[in-house]
Amino acid sequence: MLLYIHIPFCDSKCSYCAFNSYVDKFHLKSSYMQALYKQLSFELDRFEATDNSIETVFIGGGTPSTVSPKLYEPIFDLIRPYLTQDAEITSEANPNSATREWQQGMKDLGVNRLSFGVQSFNAAKLKLLNRAHTPQMAKEAITHAREIGFENISLDLIYATLGDTKELLENDLREAFSLPINHLSAYALTIEEGTAFETKPQMAKEHLDLTQWIFQNIQEHRFEQYEISNFGSYRSKHNLGYWKYKDYIGAGAGAVGKKDNERFYPSCDIECYINNPIKMRVETLSEEDARLEKIFLGFRSCIGVSKEVLSDEEKVRASVLIDEKKLLLREGVLYNPDYLLADELALFLTS
Ligand SMILES: C[S@@+](CC[C@H](N)C(=O)[O-])C[C@H]1O[C@@H](n2cnc3c(N)ncnc32)[C@H](O)[C@@H]1O
Ligand code: SF4
Repeated sequence: MLLYIHIPFCDSKCSYCAFNSYVDKFHLKSSYMQALYKQLSFELDRFEATDNSIETVFIGGGTPSTVSPKLYEPIFDLIRPYLTQDAEITSEANPNSATREWQQGMKDLGVNRLSFGVQSFNAAKLKLLNRAHTPQMAKEAITHAREIGFENISLDLIYATLGDTKELLENDLREAFSLPINHLSAYALTIEEGTAFETKPQMAKEHLDLTQWIFQNIQEHRFEQYEISNFGSYRSKHNLGYWKYKDYIGAGAGAVGKKDNERFYPSCDIECYINNPIKMRVETLSEEDARLEKIFLGFRSCIGVSKEVLSDEEKVRASVLIDEKKLLLREGVLYNPDYLLADELALFLTS
């Protein structure tokens, strides 16, 4: 199984971001981490975790680097016995708060992969996105990570924003590839409800030719695309786990967990979460919902969709797509060669 831990604190709110995070609740950090401990103890029981059962851990946010390694220590002591020997343990990190000391502290706890939110190496674009760091800070943080001994380093970029030009994106990719990374996530800007960009839909501007050019440029650097937004010479085991439909514990305010066909939603409100971290909404997915999810996830990623998952009618439609080379069939699994068409293919098959 997988483990996701959510840290809902940020130094500032980025204009595009709808993830659950607070910029004014830093005084709750310590009680939040204690609540996380309580929820995790409960979940390890509920998920019947045994030695060697947690394959990956992902600490995401919000901004995990706003919390000191000392506060993570009890959590690591709690989960350590359940981790597989080669567990991938990733933490997200923001360039302005992931100091050398923070990175070293997290490494000492067992974190073996860092994922930096960079978004761009263009100072004006960072300002537009309301990021709390400069391009130089991002470069330094990633250089430190390598010096400290992290071998698995990823960075996030955002494209398809108003004002993006080929030159700007070319420079972002050149800077990214000059750093010691083996994974890159490139996200097209989406306008989310409740964000500063909600009233400025013009901020998102996707040009298909530019998107295709970005995908190609990244792959020319031998970073294989293994999902619509993810590329690397290393593939994140945690990401792959989600797309393989593995079970995951979701700990923290606004996290989501999944066990078989059940979803668990702890409170998003940080105070409610701290008061009762094991109170959560439970949603039961029907077999059909779960089946559809597997199809959508499979076509969006390198995991593909086992033919067994499809109904007879869907198998007929799939053979049309195979004939048109829009799907590839290998050893009973259907693969999508163009992730930009993923949802279209899934809808065609299932409707
Ligand atoms: C969960 S966020 C947190 C990462 C970290 N706090 C940071 O900002 O660096 C992970 C990534 O999602 C991407 N992201 C978040 N909101 C987005 C949006 N509306 N459109 C496109 N990408 C988005 C950003 O690239 C971000 O780095
Ligand atoms: S993108 Fe990261 S730093 Fe910015 S608000 Fe979202 S979680 Fe916080």
